[in-house]
Amino acid sequence: MFSYTSATAATTELLAREERERRLEQAGYNGFNLASSDVFIDLLTDSGTGTMSNDQWAAMMQADEAYAGSESFTALENAIADVMGFERVVPTHQGRGAENVLYGCLIEEGDVVPNNTHFDTTRAHVAKNGGDPVDCPVEAAGDLDSEEAFKGNIDPDKVRALASDVGADRIPAVLLTITNNSVAGQPVSMENIRQTRDLADELDATFVIDACRFAENAFFVREREDGYGNRELAEIAREQLSHADAIVMSGKKDGLANVGGFVGVRDPDLFERTKQRAILYEGFSTYGGMAGRDMAAMAVGLREAVTEGYLSARIGQVRDLGERLREAGVPIYTPVGGHAVYVDAGRVFPQIPDEAFPGQALVCELYREGGVRGVELGSFAFPETHRPELVRLALPRRTYHVEHLEHIGETAGAVIDRSEETRGLEIVSEPENEALRHFSAELKPV
Ligand code: F0G
Repeated sequence: MFSYTSATAATTELLAREERERRLEQAGYNGFNLASSDVFIDLLTDSGTGTMSNDQWAAMMQADEAYAGSESFTALENAIADVMGFERVVPTHQGRGAENVLYGCLIEEGDVVPNNTHFDTTRAHVAKNGGDPVDCPVEAAGDLDSEEAFKGNIDPDKVRALASDVGADRIPAVLLTITNNSVAGQPVSMENIRQTRDLADELDATFVIDACRFAENAFFVREREDGYGNRELAEIAREQLSHADAIVMSGKKDGLANVGGFVGVRDPDLFERTKQRAILYEGFSTYGGMAGRDMAAMAVGLREAVTEGYLSARIGQVRDLGERLREAGVPIYTPVGGHAVYVDAGRVFPQIPDEAFPGQALVCELYREGGVRGVELGSFAFPETHRPELVRLALPRRTYHVEHLEHIGETAGAVIDRSEETRGLEIVSEPENEALRHFSAELKPV
């Protein structure tokens, strides 16, 4: 069994309230501009921010830093073959590197690419290669309260309608993101994965799974889907991916690593092409932008990610946070998904119009009140898309304890208690590319 060393980025000391107010103002009321030492509990992302196990650290100490053909790459290849069932692997520096490598080989100008829901970097890479990224979530995805089991699913009928609209020959690939990060980390069912396989065959398209949180998804399949209740999580995790032609992976999520990613493919010709493209953008095809020690850490992390003890603690902790928030009167997206709790800021602050960013106001209040950093995923991050005003509180893996969850619950409760007094924000300065504004724009209270 593995044990952990603590690697939390945030400080262990809660700054005084006036100091937090000052840092928030200096940061332009944008959490991305805060230093990690300003933050008490960091829920900005679950990406690369988790704690590695002692076994991972031990593997790093013994890593092979050879430029070509390192033993650490072989260890990673073996882990991916065992855990995910892909034998042809192209390593990359992180998930978006994998997206660049694979989508650059699959997508051409004028193509149309359906997905259950595109994550931001996926959308950007599909578009950059001339494709039109089209979200095809099931109806229930947009219902923040329904208790349906697999709200992350793709709607095959929407994809069929799209194909008959634009012509199947313009759809080179069907993507499926498990779990569905842009839909509150909701899982995708095995049945839906099989349906997507059939759909891709019908359209003669490549079936790609974005496997960032494939292990977390497997936990929900076992819990909620008929026929999987007695199966091993590792087996389910692998079965999910067995249906895909290719995978893109960010090792910063269910690779339990701080950095890294890869593409996995089955077709030898596509393998050659992705390798050549990776050499251009990522590095030679046996390291892809990772150090040997990064690959060694991920090789161990992938195996740990599909174990019972890890996954039940992981999903259990996220659920525990959801329960505490609900008890504090905070409106959240239900059921709670895999890596984060999503708060409905529109309902917390009905007096704040979308143009004054109720989600960003909540991000600021959580920091002001308790030094907690979350991230807005509503009108501020996604201008003109009219998404619900959600704030994501993502839990880093193996990092926080019950006392931290208690603090988050109390903080959110205090924010709710004085929610009527809270005002919105306006943008003072923003970058040229509006799609990236939530990373760096500065705001002020209205
Ligand atoms: N795909 C999904 C579903 C993701 O959630 C992410 C990253 C990526 C691809 C890109 O991977 O960051 O390693 O380049 N999500 C992080 C997040 C950033 O906070 O949700 P990356």
